[in-house]
Amino acid sequence: MAHLFEPLELRDVRLRNRVMASPMCQYSAIAGVPQPWHLVHLGGLARGGAGLVMAEATAVVPEGRISPRDTGLWDDALAEAWAPIAAFVRAQGAVPGIQLAHAGDKASTWWPWAGQRGSVPHGEGADDGWQTVGPSDTGYPGLAAPRALPTEELPGLVAAFVAAARRALAAGFEVIELHAAHGYLLHEFLSPLSNDRTDGYGGDLLGRSRLLQEVAAAVRAAWPAERPLLVRISATDWVEGGLTIDDTVVVAGWLRDLGVDLVDVSSAGISADQQIPVAPGYQVPLARRIRHEAGVRTAAVGLITEPAHAEAIVAEGSADLVALARVLLRDPQWPLRAAHELGAEVDWPPQLRRGRW
Ligand SMILES: Cc1cc2nc3c(=O)[nH]c(=O)nc-3n(C[C@H](O)[C@H](O)[C@H](O)COP(=O)(O)O)c2cc1C
Repeated sequence: MAHLFEPLELRDVRLRNRVMASPMCQYSAIAGVPQPWHLVHLGGLARGGAGLVMAEATAVVPEGRISPRDTGLWDDALAEAWAPIAAFVRAQGAVPGIQLAHAGDKASTWWPWAGQRGSVPHGEGADDGWQTVGPSDTGYPGLAAPRALPTEELPGLVAAFVAAARRALAAGFEVIELHAAHGYLLHEFLSPLSNDRTDGYGGDLLGRSRLLQEVAAAVRAAWPAERPLLVRISATDWVEGGLTIDDTVVVAGWLRDLGVDLVDVSSAGISADQQIPVAPGYQVPLARRIRHEAGVRTAAVGLITEPAHAEAIVAEGSADLVALARVLLRDPQWPLRAAHELGAEVDWPPQLRRGRW
């Protein structure tokens, strides 16, 4: 039996295989509300056989959206809008997860096909921009300057993640992933390149990881003990003087001690100077180091497209899950195809069985 198609137990949640549909912003929400597009997109990934289907970066407060068209979970009506989507994913035998996010100083930007780049001008309309926030007031080159978050506002931010986690539960999600990667707010606090704070949330690695640790601990306490909590991290900034894999091994150990069940290992996003050695599986060695040195389960992601490659990553113990993004956009039924190629027996949705290999 292929390792890729062995189930994985995370707390009381059982994934039918090791394929995770990686979170992918669809820039198709209206005022935070997921649309029929999201049902078709996420439902299609569940139908296609993924074990875990992670809904896109979903903002815990409106100003935490990457673009005005991102999804949200900042009020109860949003939880109601997500509920049928989570239910459909579950009905297809996949586990529905949602990534909780705050885009920090990279919020309020144009969606990719808007025909413009950079920050969206401020306004009151559903597609208008807003004042961003970050650990410092310098922000990301080419984007509007953020407002540095004062220390006294940070507990409110932690509370927003907790409230969103409660709504994710009400909506029927079984897994939460905290987004602490790609140059967004929690990563902006973690990286020495974007955090020049002088309070307890800056300085050394412990200080810079304090906000992430507080969010992880508070969400863990509010999220049922039988359900898994994941964190996506940028394991390296790929910039001299930035966050390194040695740092993130340490942070992953702290997260493990706080009850985080799996670290989803991505990289980059904090600096325009990053030098990323892009190649198939280029982030797998980072997942492998974190898994072995921090003693926590990992997901590997990034240019993994071939079933045999995904199988090898799990078989050799580099990661417990393989997360796929772009390949699932062109081939949402990749897991069914991979099972065929790897000789694994998997259940097909009965409606599709006449198309089975
Ligand atoms: C359209 C698109 C949207 C994405 N949105 C998110 C997101 O919401 N959250 C996140 O952590 N990563 C996001 N990513 C990154 C992917 O999850 C993934 O880490 C990355 O694309 C590398 O994997 P791949 O080579 O399989 O595409 C996005 C990627 C794409 C292509």
